[in-house]
Amino acid sequence: MKPAVGQLRPDGSLRHLLTLEGLGRERIERLLEQAQRYVCEIGGVAPRRSTLAGVTVANLFTEPSTRTRVSFELAAKRLGAEVVNLEVQLSSRVKGESMLDTVYTLEALHVDVFVIRDAEAGVPGLVAAHVDPHVSVLSAGEGSVEHPTQGLLDALTIAQSKGRFDDLVVAIVGDIRHSRVARSAWHALAALGVKELRIVAPEGLMARPGEFPGCRRIDRLDEGVRDADVIMMLRIQKERMSHTSLPDSDRYFAEFGLDPRRLALARPDAIVMHPQPMNRGIEIASDVADGPQSVIRTQVRNGVAVRMAVLESVIAGRSAAS
Ligand code: NCD
Repeated sequence: MKPAVGQLRPDGSLRHLLTLEGLGRERIERLLEQAQRYVCEIGGVAPRRSTLAGVTVANLFTEPSTRTRVSFELAAKRLGAEVVNLEVQLSSRVKGESMLDTVYTLEALHVDVFVIRDAEAGVPGLVAAHVDPHVSVLSAGEGSVEHPTQGLLDALTIAQSKGRFDDLVVAIVGDIRHSRVARSAWHALAALGVKELRIVAPEGLMARPGEFPGCRRIDRLDEGVRDADVIMMLRIQKERMSHTSLPDSDRYFAEFGLDPRRLALARPDAIVMHPQPMNRGIEIASDVADGPQSVIRTQVRNGVAVRMAVLESVIAGRSAAS
């Protein structure tokens, strides 16, 4: 779904990040290169800059989040910004104040960047369409539509492990239908020229007809992971389903869980990804999640670096435009 508002300023710089669709290979590559400069080994001293000094970032999350919220907060702080975190369901929104009124209040308090996660499609775009021209909106996950910074961190993780995109086979596996992670990964990886993108899911969790054009649709896990270079596992998004369509966990693991036997069907140097939170024993076996081919912790680490790059990019463009 295209956002109601453009993401770029008239001079072509990035103002909002709502979707990776149409962002283009060059801009995505530039963001990944910039993010790579902020990557820090686990256990190392995280890099700090002051490029966001004087900038205020508000995290507005109406859905639960651990990694995304914390990494946006750390990214902003490591660039010298001030950060406010609003658990919107605990604030006056429950008293009927709309998201836009909350945003206008925060704008009056000089918030420059809104980071928004919402279960409803269209909310980040709606806010982006109403904020002042100097303000930016970054999606931190929009319903089952998109999760653009997750798509970027997934692409960065693949680039670090494989060093290339063009001859890769990437299998995205699980609840494709409800996954904003899958949609953003698809936009990023298609733009970066991945050779073969597979979406692998049982019928009820497969993308609807016409969605994910250009991807190979596969309804059996063995076939889906065979000779893959990258296997991206997804959580079953129970919160986006009616109870009747919930698959039984044991049966799901038997048919669609990534275990060591199935992983052995992929290329020997295949990497295993998962955006988390993981349901161990449902979509992924613990031996695989914690095994040598897993890059799941690397994804988390890259999340901070990617969010630093995105924050810097929207603020740099603002200074240049004013
Ligand atoms: C994902 C999300 O919220 O979309 N998690 C995340 O941001 N790392 C995936 C999920 O919830 O399954």
